[in-house]
Amino acid sequence: MRTQVGIVGAGPAGLMLSHLLHQRGVDSVVIDLRGRQEIEETIKAGVLEQGTVDLMTQTGVGDRMKRDGFVHHGINLAFAGQMHRIDLHELSGGRSVVVYAQHEVLKDLIAKRLQDGGDLRFGVSDTKVEGLDTEQPTVSFQQDGELQRLECDFVIGADGSRTYTRFLIPEGTVRTDFFRQYPFAWFGILAEAPPSSDELIYAHSDRGFALISTRSPSVQRLYFQVDPSTNTDDWSDDRIWEELQARTSGAGATIKAGPIFRKDVLQFRSFVCEPMQYGRLYLAGDAAHTVPPTGAKGMNLAIADVHVLDRALGAFYDAKDTGLLESYTATVLKRVWRAQHFSWWMTSMLHTFPDATDFDLRRQLAELEMVTSSPTAAKTLADNYVGLPLS
Ligand code: DHB
Repeated sequence: MRTQVGIVGAGPAGLMLSHLLHQRGVDSVVIDLRGRQEIEETIKAGVLEQGTVDLMTQTGVGDRMKRDGFVHHGINLAFAGQMHRIDLHELSGGRSVVVYAQHEVLKDLIAKRLQDGGDLRFGVSDTKVEGLDTEQPTVSFQQDGELQRLECDFVIGADGSRTYTRFLIPEGTVRTDFFRQYPFAWFGILAEAPPSSDELIYAHSDRGFALISTRSPSVQRLYFQVDPSTNTDDWSDDRIWEELQARTSGAGATIKAGPIFRKDVLQFRSFVCEPMQYGRLYLAGDAAHTVPPTGAKGMNLAIADVHVLDRALGAFYDAKDTGLLESYTATVLKRVWRAQHFSWWMTSMLHTFPDATDFDLRRQLAELEMVTSSPTAAKTLADNYVGLPLS
């Protein structure tokens, strides 16, 4: 088979890139080890930056998001017995975020690709990429017991944090990995209960961090900091609700409890690999970088990467101009490192570190006090939270 762009991974980066390329008349094939159902049902985060929202709307995949997503003009920071609102909309000059689950974005992108005649291959195995140092790299894989081989001009590694494609960039001589582990994880739940708050609450407490988010008028998404070795079976529903209430009640929140239908533990990591390209291979999204979830940046970074990649590939096919492809890594790394810093900052300001001293606690509270009382500091948080414009 022959296609212009072979895309490994049907997550936000791979699907959005295939969609954007189609709109400019460039064809692609997307492959994924997972089945369509698994992709459409895996629960991930749910905050879309203004730039992601605008791109979805402008390219015709924003209808359900507009109908079912919630526009949030602010977030709350809870600490030291008080609730403080950060007015994202006002501080950022009219930008905001939309709470809409990542797997719903994926459903929308898959439906649109299929409606447009896109070639998506789910449930493949034995992916092998070769010829990256030639002008005709190949992607081979097994599908329904048959070996398939794609001949492409470019290969995109958008295969998430359990990536195969990243390791095609030789480590040491070409690739450097930057990595940071955190001594905690998030326990996440989905529960049948109406929202406890109109806007998200990021809570600092002496029992650890908690986050109150939402999904719909009848489903809530909530998280709380736990030890990374935590097993979901260790926590009964009653104990979870008591803990969430205890971490937020000092600031005046009242948690609305209900049947919990999903529990998971999310590990925390910061990771970046440089460069994000090698020969005819370009990495996008979690295959190249991971952020801790506190800044709500993961999916947005993936979308921002492929927005740049789409333009770069467009310049190549329109005018044989390789300039934007050559500068791809340098262009996207600016945003990636901005988001790395922001995610690390939010994480370290709000979580309890196991070795924290009273000095550290007071320093955290001083920082939270500054962020909620100084308009300049609040604006820094707001600008980062709603995200940089895409272009
Ligand atoms: C959600 C996840 C996040 O990581 C975050 O910072 C805010 C909200 C969510 O899943 O709703």
